[in-house]
Amino acid sequence: MAYKVIERRMIVPNIHELVIEASAGGLVKPGQFVIVRPDEKGERIPLSVSDFDPTRGVVTCFFQEVGETTSKLALLKAGDTIPTFVGPLGEASEIAHFGTVLLIGGCFGIGSIYPIAKAMKAAGNTVHVLIEARSSFLLYWEDRFEELVDGFHVITRDGTKGYKGHISKLPQILKNEELKPDRVIVNGCTFLMKRASDMTRELQIHTMVNMNPIMIDGTGMCGVCRLTVGGQTKFACVDGPDFDGHLVDWKEFLMRRKTYYEEEVTPLRKSGVGTEFHLSGKHKHKCLEKN
Ligand SMILES: Cc1cc2nc3c(=O)[nH]c(=O)nc-3n(C[C@H](O)[C@H](O)[C@H](O)COP(=O)(O)OP(=O)(O)OC[C@H]3O[C@@H](n4cnc5c(N)ncnc54)[C@H](O)[C@@H]3O)c2cc1C
Ligand code: FES
Repeated sequence: MAYKVIERRMIVPNIHELVIEASAGGLVKPGQFVIVRPDEKGERIPLSVSDFDPTRGVVTCFFQEVGETTSKLALLKAGDTIPTFVGPLGEASEIAHFGTVLLIGGCFGIGSIYPIAKAMKAAGNTVHVLIEARSSFLLYWEDRFEELVDGFHVITRDGTKGYKGHISKLPQILKNEELKPDRVIVNGCTFLMKRASDMTRELQIHTMVNMNPIMIDGTGMCGVCRLTVGGQTKFACVDGPDFDGHLVDWKEFLMRRKTYYEEEVTPLRKSGVGTEFHLSGKHKHKCLEKN
């Protein structure tokens, strides 16, 4: 079976939008992910779903180009096909009437909080969204959020839009915006989720994070995606990917994420797989988490 690429475009430097034709579009729930493989010899990788349209039968994901598989995905063109598209996988995010919900997104998480924002709004919540990036040119889908949610906030590291700084500013932002969330949900890179959880622990606000460990089968069989939450072993692919950010063992998680760094990054540097953007040297901002 082959799955048609409807669109693949670099939406901001190093982050690509991928729209795939798949009947799975009708089954996806907010917070779930899919597993894709760019070619017959390629690896299967998980990507969070950022949008889905059951009538068109399409699923939209955003991916950050970090290694060989995401570099191969970044070379796809509309009309190409991929051999593997599995999903939806994982448990859906808990959607209920919590009161005021703050969704925080960074990197590919800016996209993946969108379906959660829609569902939280439909459940009658007051929904605020906070997105963050190194600079304003790395933000996307701002217009979509602005028309959907009750409050929309931005942090940029260089201060080119919104608050200047990073997520450690959260307590100050909540104070300035007179925002008292009953629940916080964070999607994006590990450090964003960890730091946000550190802040909200002090503020005693229940916080869910969308964990992104290395995965292989995505069905609970291989054990690679295991993490410790509240002292118990969990598998992100079947028990998550959403977990209570205050209960995640972040130290262990960060250690496990580094396991294959040498094996993954060194061959990529030698393989020559990379988009024109990367090979031309236009890629100037750090995209790999090295800690
Ligand atoms: C449930 C889930 C949802 C995800 N959703 C998205 C998404 O929507 N968009 C997106 O861009 N990425 C997402 N990821 C991460 C994505 O799967 C990895 O970036 C991808 O597997 C890297 O493959 P690669 O071959 O290009 O890089 P590799 O060669 O495998 O690795 C290159 C570098 O990326 C790091 N890396 C490897 N796996 C991960 C990972 N799981 N998370 C972060 N860094 C990783 C490696 O440590 C290494 O530094 C998700 C992961 C999970 C588990
Ligand atoms: S990816 Fe194998 S158990 Fe989760």
